[in-house]
Amino acid sequence: MSHPLFTEKLLTWYQQHGRKNLPWQKKRTAYRVWLSEVMLQQTQVQTVIPYYLRFLKKFPNVTALANASLDDVLHAWAGLGYYSRARNLHKTAIMIRDEFHGEFPTSLESMIALPGIGRSTASAILAFSDQQALPILDGNVKRVLSRLHAIATVPQKSEKELWLLAQRYTPEKDHIIDYTQAIMDLGATICTRHLPKCAHCPVAEECIAYKRHETSLYPIKPEKNTLPTKKIFLIVLMNKKNEIFLERRPEIGIWGGLWSLPESSSREIPAHLTHFLPNIDISTSEELAPIKHVFSHYKLIATPIRYRLLKNIQTAMSHTTHLWHNPKHELPKGLPTPIKKWLAFYDEQNRIL
Ligand code: ADE
Repeated sequence: MSHPLFTEKLLTWYQQHGRKNLPWQKKRTAYRVWLSEVMLQQTQVQTVIPYYLRFLKKFPNVTALANASLDDVLHAWAGLGYYSRARNLHKTAIMIRDEFHGEFPTSLESMIALPGIGRSTASAILAFSDQQALPILDGNVKRVLSRLHAIATVPQKSEKELWLLAQRYTPEKDHIIDYTQAIMDLGATICTRHLPKCAHCPVAEECIAYKRHETSLYPIKPEKNTLPTKKIFLIVLMNKKNEIFLERRPEIGIWGGLWSLPESSSREIPAHLTHFLPNIDISTSEELAPIKHVFSHYKLIATPIRYRLLKNIQTAMSHTTHLWHNPKHELPKGLPTPIKKWLAFYDEQNRIL
């Protein structure tokens, strides 16, 4: 059977440059392949190797793993990270022991139904252990195919197209093991995320991104979250002693119940404060550098407007809702972090005045 040029070149390259001595390439039983693929899901080959060998020694087959305690499994996994993988591994081993008579299933559907095994991992396991001609599409393969075809959409939107391409290049069973390892190796060693080694790539001539000198554009990065921006003003009332007026925020809304600079929707002093401050000289207002803060759902740009009060204010205030903060004293407790940082910096400057 003749293969697409990409497949042909990749297979030829693999003979000379592919990785052929990885421990999971030796005796390709479903158990050994499954274990390696799960470990390799989020961890690099060099890190996986010693864990893999130790794990196999401790749990030489799926029944041994199923019979072990979860604690023992987690202990053998310690240091690899993403511990849900170890929990799923143990769960799967128990399922294989109790529901599959100790044998891994050989259909793609049953394999995908096992905990912690997605479509690409399931296909890789069946390709390596059972020579089934199934396409894989892990992160490395997505990158290779996105560049090869200069796919102009973000990976979430090109999933279907990428699976079709993966299918198109996947050879028949005689070559499936080499091909699957080859495309993984190409992604991991040549077609790397940063600074791909296109000079050494066997399929550079086929690669649209390479020909356009645009490999760094692919895969297209998801759009940066463009959060809406909310702009407010914070009123900095500074008296003759360089003290700053703080008020407790309403219980509802951002920074509920915390101390803050009074908020205003304009540069002017808000109405609720004017009765404290009967005759302020507005001409003294100055705009200070904005405070920027990102909340989960919007970006806040708060511009402080400073008013220097020429006369101290005599009006009685409730100490539970209003206070004058002296820069020589400690900051009050219960300040929102951005305001606390800003005040600490402000105090530092005003202490030396
Ligand atoms: N990453 C995922 N599976 C792999 C494998 N079988 N060999 C090398 N890297 C991999």
